[in-house]
Amino acid sequence: MTSKQAQEIAQQLGDIPKNDANLQAEIQRLNRKSFVPLEQVQILHEWLESKRQARQCCRIIGESRTGKTMACNAYRLRHKPIQQMGKPPIVPVAYIQADPDCSSKDLFRLIIEHLKYQMTKGTVAEIRERTRRVMKTCGVETLIIDEADRLKPNTFRDVRDIGEELEISVVLVGTDRLDAVIKRDEQVYNRFRACHRFGKSSGEDFQRTVEIWEKQILKLPVASNLYSETMLNTLGEATRGYIGLLDMILRESAIRALKKGLQKVDLETLKEVAAEYK
Ligand SMILES: Nc1ncnc2c1ncn2[C@@H]1O[C@H](COP(=O)(O)OP(=O)(O)OP(=O)(O)O)[C@@H](O)[C@H]1O
Ligand SMILES: [Mg+2]
Repeated sequence: MTSKQAQEIAQQLGDIPKNDANLQAEIQRLNRKSFVPLEQVQILHEWLESKRQARQCCRIIGESRTGKTMACNAYRLRHKPIQQMGKPPIVPVAYIQADPDCSSKDLFRLIIEHLKYQMTKGTVAEIRERTRRVMKTCGVETLIIDEADRLKPNTFRDVRDIGEELEISVVLVGTDRLDAVIKRDEQVYNRFRACHRFGKSSGEDFQRTVEIWEKQILKLPVASNLYSETMLNTLGEATRGYIGLLDMILRESAIRALKKGLQKVDLETLKEVAAEYK
């Protein structure tokens, strides 16, 4: 397409109309991610706490979009790092996300940089040693490795050794793919045997979650009663209990409703959005 043609099309259709300022502010608010301390999250935190205190390794397994990453990050934030002038930071809970095809060296770099140290050049053995020193200095008690299915098979050995030698709790987080990888190596499996399942939401729990979302996240001027039967059934079908999908569908429904000039999410708008997720 030439630029002249493009200009003609733009002229024919006109500019996309701009939202008014109030609506725009509401849309921005609805687009901001916020954290909800769901019951499942609190149970997980208690479990992680007991593992930290016992310095035991473990794994968290759950399907994609069930909220594992959000929950683990929140746990890390509840153990605030302590930063004092001229002293190394104290980081009781360290959290990293493995890169695709994560080698031992990649893993060490992620840990060192998370603890706000510089990665240095050297052999794997040297960097391994430096990682241990840095972790000790920072007083790491729990190391959470998210997306752990991305670790290369050899990297799992290093992960296991970190737990053993530093006597800390190493937590591997991932989907069932991670489970399969861990079970392939008996020594790794034995070390990470303790498993916490992170699940989808259903029944009364789902209803409660929808209610919380309406009140704490959507916060529209008029009640939508999303937890009434028809609304709930529509949501249940479209999300199948995945918290990530629920969050997306509800935010989008709210934005669409506001753009229609409504004060709440009505069934029609909800169905419209939900249909896209089937
Ligand atoms: N506690 C929560 N409060 C608010 N929103 C949440 C919460 N848990 C999950 N979500 C929503 O669900 C989405 C998916 O969550 P998250 O990324 O934690 O899932 P996950 O289990 O780590 O998925 P994956 O396995 O694909 O990495 C988030 O982006 C957020 O929109
Ligand atoms: Mg995740």
